[in-house]
Amino acid sequence: SQTPVKVAVTGAAGQICYSLLFRIASGALLGDTPVELRLLEITPALKALEGVVMELDDCAFPNLAKVEIGDDPEKVFDGVNMAMLVGAMPRKAGMERGDLLSANGAIFTAQGKALNKVAADDVKVLVTGNPANTNALIAYSNAPDIPKEQFAALTRLDQDRAKAQVAQKLGVSVNDVKKMTIWGNHSATQYPDLFNAEVNGRSAAEQINDQAWIESTFIPTVAKRGAAIIDATGLSSRASAANATVSCMHDWALGTPENDWVSMAVVSDGSYGVPEGLVSSFPVTIKDGKWEIVQGLDINDFSRGKIDASVAELADERQAVTELGLI
Ligand code: NAI
Repeated sequence: SQTPVKVAVTGAAGQICYSLLFRIASGALLGDTPVELRLLEITPALKALEGVVMELDDCAFPNLAKVEIGDDPEKVFDGVNMAMLVGAMPRKAGMERGDLLSANGAIFTAQGKALNKVAADDVKVLVTGNPANTNALIAYSNAPDIPKEQFAALTRLDQDRAKAQVAQKLGVSVNDVKKMTIWGNHSATQYPDLFNAEVNGRSAAEQINDQAWIESTFIPTVAKRGAAIIDATGLSSRASAANATVSCMHDWALGTPENDWVSMAVVSDGSYGVPEGLVSSFPVTIKDGKWEIVQGLDINDFSRGKIDASVAELADERQAVTELGLI
């Protein structure tokens, strides 16, 4: 029988993980390949996590080889091939950005160091917990022995939200919408790019042919979708965030389809003028477990301005965590 792939998930007793763990265990991540789940929580949440594990047991998933839980990252991450870092400190009322960055800094420095020490050499680390891009920056900066290419932050949910909006606008299937790029930060400044996206092989922007809709409806709808969901449900996106986390890791491991790409926030090599080292969202193709930034795309003035604004925000965040001594 196959050796199980060891998949660590943090924040395992939280809202996103209540979807995520069951999707991983049922095969949405790696099909029939057996998986071993390693679930990390803070000590007070371990009892709730035990309840989640009872439910995982009660699903009798054929490809779930084993589940281990704990509150010590060095134990939970030991030998893991994949790490989905979902757990983070949410912004609370009255919290300044600096407070949020330092609270999360403590989490992601510790987890970066633990991964560096005990994870498998091929570990892929995907950060979902916010501020995701900068948390990934902190994690890779604290894991000097793991190649930076093995860290990413999630912008797949933004990509999928953008696809859904375009499909609805043009009355086509989401399957007809391809090459959807999110540039920059997973925040309200992110830029979903319809000029390089395609619907049935032709430019999405040309077919929509309505710059006002793109600027005043499409971009804000995608960028503020998380807030709209909180408004409606009282809770942050859960199942859709879990779906995006699984889809991103699935494609990272198994590759992107021909003639399409996906959006992932990866460590910049300077492509498209994004300063080296920032974790910024790009269009990527993936083969044999390795991503490559799609090169040579046309960036018009409108796109350039939007990308630069989001990247400037990432540079500010890097400056802030540098000053806090986190990287
Ligand atoms: P939640 O608050 O329900 O769950 C978070 C869990 O993380 C809690 O159970 C908490 O105990 C745990 N946790 C806190 N510190 C930890 C640590 N040091 N180690 C392990 N676990 C720890 O939050 P939810 O709704 O599951 O969201 C998780 C994160 O994902 C949030 O930061 C949220 O903003 C972010 N998010 C990101 C999205 C994206 O597209 N990148 C989309 C939606 C949410």
